[in-house]
Amino acid sequence: MVEWSDSERKTIASVWGKINVGEIGPQSLARLLIVYPWTQRYFGTFGDLSNAAAIQGNPKVAAHGKTVLNALDKAVKNLDNIKATYAQLSLLHFEKLNVDPGNFKLLANCLTIVAATAFGPAFTPAVQATWQKLLSVVVSALSSRYY
Ligand code: HEM
Repeated sequence: MVEWSDSERKTIASVWGKINVGEIGPQSLARLLIVYPWTQRYFGTFGDLSNAAAIQGNPKVAAHGKTVLNALDKAVKNLDNIKATYAQLSLLHFEKLNVDPGNFKLLANCLTIVAATAFGPAFTPAVQATWQKLLSVVVSALSSRYY
């Protein structure tokens, strides 16, 4: 079981409270699709992903980016139970969507870079450490039902 210190809990609550889901979500998913173009294979129904501008202006990418970030809210609200919280979502990505779980880490990297850019100097090393701990627990939970 993952342990969270009081200071980590406070940092997560504070960072999450300042996250603009409508910006960070779309930007992170767009970044994933641009930086790691093989991830586009899962989004064949999303229309034009042929170049960076198309990806950044694609309304389906933006909407899904928001969906992903809204799902992260569940982790923030269930810090002591993240694995169970994502059990169904893990099964969905495995059995139905056939997403290679290595891609979860790539999206986590993009979320970190986009959050760091948005927060600027407020994204201190201590904040980064806690943020990345949260994402690594989420990545592990999303991979947990793969067999
Ligand atoms: C769908 C969350 C990472 C591919 C979804 C949904 C959620 C979600 C909440 C909607 C599920 C539903 O409709 O019931 C997350 C979270 C992630 C993550 C929290 C990591 C932090 C990824 C990655 C990929 C991916 C890395 C592929 C590279 C998909 C696809 C769908 C989906 C293809 C279906 C989209 C559609 O057709 O509407 N994800 N996801 N996900 N996810 Fe993920």
